[in-house]
Amino acid sequence: MNRILLKFIGLVIVGVWTMFLIYVFKVASPSSPSSSSSSSASSAAISSSFSSLFSVRRNHKALIRPGLQEPHKKDKILCWVLTAPKFLDNRAKAVKNTWGKRCDKTLFFSSAANASFPTIGLNVSEGRDALPNKTIRAFTYCYENYGQDFDWFMKADDDTYVIVENLRKFVSNYSSSDPIYFGHNFYKYFKQGYMSGGAGYVLSKEALRVFVTKGVAKTKPVCHIQDVRNEDILMGACMEKLAVKAIDTVDEYQRERFLPLDLIEYTVTGFPFWLPDYSKFKPKLVSI
Ligand SMILES: *[C@@H]1O[C@H](CO)[C@@H](O)[C@H](O)[C@H]1NC(C)=O
Ligand SMILES: *[C@@H]1O[C@H](CO)[C@@H](O)[C@H](O)[C@H]1NC(C)=O
Ligand SMILES: *[C@@H]1O[C@H](CO)[C@@H](O)[C@H](O)[C@H]1NC(C)=O
Ligand SMILES: *[C@@H]1O[C@H](CO)[C@@H](O)[C@H](O)[C@H]1NC(C)=O
Repeated sequence: MNRILLKFIGLVIVGVWTMFLIYVFKVASPSSPSSSSSSSASSAAISSSFSSLFSVRRNHKALIRPGLQEPHKKDKILCWVLTAPKFLDNRAKAVKNTWGKRCDKTLFFSSAANASFPTIGLNVSEGRDALPNKTIRAFTYCYENYGQDFDWFMKADDDTYVIVENLRKFVSNYSSSDPIYFGHNFYKYFKQGYMSGGAGYVLSKEALRVFVTKGVAKTKPVCHIQDVRNEDILMGACMEKLAVKAIDTVDEYQRERFLPLDLIEYTVTGFPFWLPDYSKFKPKLVSI
């Protein structure tokens, strides 16, 4: 079936669900999201969309898993969030007030600069077609301004929720000098597949360097990606060409740390039929 159509339907569902949760959250539980829900040693999913924020809070016990070790080194993580002018005061604000604070630095990119939020203007047109260019520009900006100062660069959307403490523990097991990247592996199109954009993905410092200086270099770029419409597929193609290794992120029981869908789909409603076909590791339902 048509993947774009499926993605669209998926986005609509995620959107409606997010709005519902924001409503429920605002009306039914006026307290601000506490960081305690994510500061335990559990290695619950590193990221999923907003619903996990609430699900993690309300069903915290169900999500506790045998933990990773405490980080043995303190790597610096830069998170960048792709947003849009109309989502600044809702989605982007929610990220800024919650998990965004826990990265060592969080940047918000949008089509238009906004000095008061602040967002960095990407100087590209709005809309899905511009997504590849946005991602390229944002990573280039990160490299040029912060490439030496951080170990890991996470790309997320404004409807992604990240448990940064768990991400920290996970990356502490790896060296940011290696050309590697992490995410939810959609095992398609390329030998090592590509990382789902919706779940967010993480590039090592070295992966970022080769992506910007070789992959999308201004002269003789290795990756010819202007005509790839899906940003995550573009990244997958480029990473493979640049020999940046896709690292598996499932735990020892093959449970995912990066979730491309809403938590509700992993718990209550079940997955869309295409997910088992795309995901490298069989998706598993979780009981709550
Ligand atoms: C800039 O950001 C502020 C704070 O989020 C917001 O209130 C304002 O509407 C934004 N301005 C534009 C032009 O989007
Ligand atoms: C977009 O253009 C403005 C003004 O020239 C510049 O300050 C900004 O850094 C540019 N954004 C990116 C991501 O390069
Ligand atoms: C992406 O950027 C390139 C180079 O700046 C430009 O030629 C191309 O038209 C852009 N694509 C879209 C869809 O905006
Ligand atoms: C840490 O990395 C090693 C190999 O690099 C791997 O065998 C081990 O399972 C990893 N541990 C975690 C918790 O990811």
